[in-house]
Amino acid sequence: MGYETLLITREANVATLTINRPAVLNALSAQVFQEMMHFLDDKTATQGLRALIITGAGEKAFIAGADIAAMQSLTPVQALKFARLGQDFTVKLEEQPFISIARVQGYALGGGCEVAMACDFVVASETALFGQPEVDLGLIPGFGGTQRLARRVGLPMAMEMLCAGRKLNGKEAVQHGLASTVVPAAELDAAIAKIIKNILKAAPHAIAETKRLARASLEQPLSSGLSAEATAFATCFAGEESREGIQAFLEKRKAQF
Ligand code: CAA
Repeated sequence: MGYETLLITREANVATLTINRPAVLNALSAQVFQEMMHFLDDKTATQGLRALIITGAGEKAFIAGADIAAMQSLTPVQALKFARLGQDFTVKLEEQPFISIARVQGYALGGGCEVAMACDFVVASETALFGQPEVDLGLIPGFGGTQRLARRVGLPMAMEMLCAGRKLNGKEAVQHGLASTVVPAAELDAAIAKIIKNILKAAPHAIAETKRLARASLEQPLSSGLSAEATAFATCFAGEESREGIQAFLEKRKAQF
């Protein structure tokens, strides 16, 4: 498929998806979501992928939110469809076996903050600015912001961000658990490369299982989570990965996964 709103590149088992609408600060239209969904559904494109970097074109914005101009004429029924489309994308991204990394510089507002929160890692430059300003437009977040933000930063900070316009810069985003790493803008790609290097060293199935269980931990009682973890831990011992990983350690060599 020829994408109109995205640039996709792939080097070995790492892909970069760039939302390429710099004139509107990479605002999220229905087409952007449809194209991103198409990419995730494209088995050939995602075959063997270990990491996906999601970013926005230009230095000014990661994503400045849902496309406000496109939302002007939405009926409630169309708005429901748009919210569901965005939410479906965030869930589909979370469910992928590979690691997703939001590469955030500049504005990550509204839907931008929501897409970042659906990624497994949020790596921010010092210039990043996260916020959920939807109420200023007479709206509320529609792609998960009312649900995921409090899980990330706690309810008091989420309330300030959602209702009182509080924005977090890159450093504050790390302090409050919205991002895991912050670096000067010039070091953003190097910081991501370092994370990816470590991901590529590790076993793919083990990473996919860890991601699945860690994400599920936010939604289930501890006893269910522990039970799921024990089962998945046991399953590791039926696979090749653990045999190779343990043997490599004991033989003092690098594991080949
Ligand atoms: N949708 C559509 N266009 C947008 C946009 C958006 N979310 N954000 C910026 N743009 C456009 C601007 O209209 C402008 O276009 P023109 O050049 O044609 O005028 C261009 O991008 C550059 O933006 P600005 O001139 O406004 O740049 P600035 O530096 O003065 O301000 C900004 C930057 C503070 C990010 C400002 O653009 C802004 O406040 N944007 C909107 C942020 C926002 O409210 N996001 C939430 C959207 S609602 C949402 O996301 C709902 C949801 O969860 C479902």
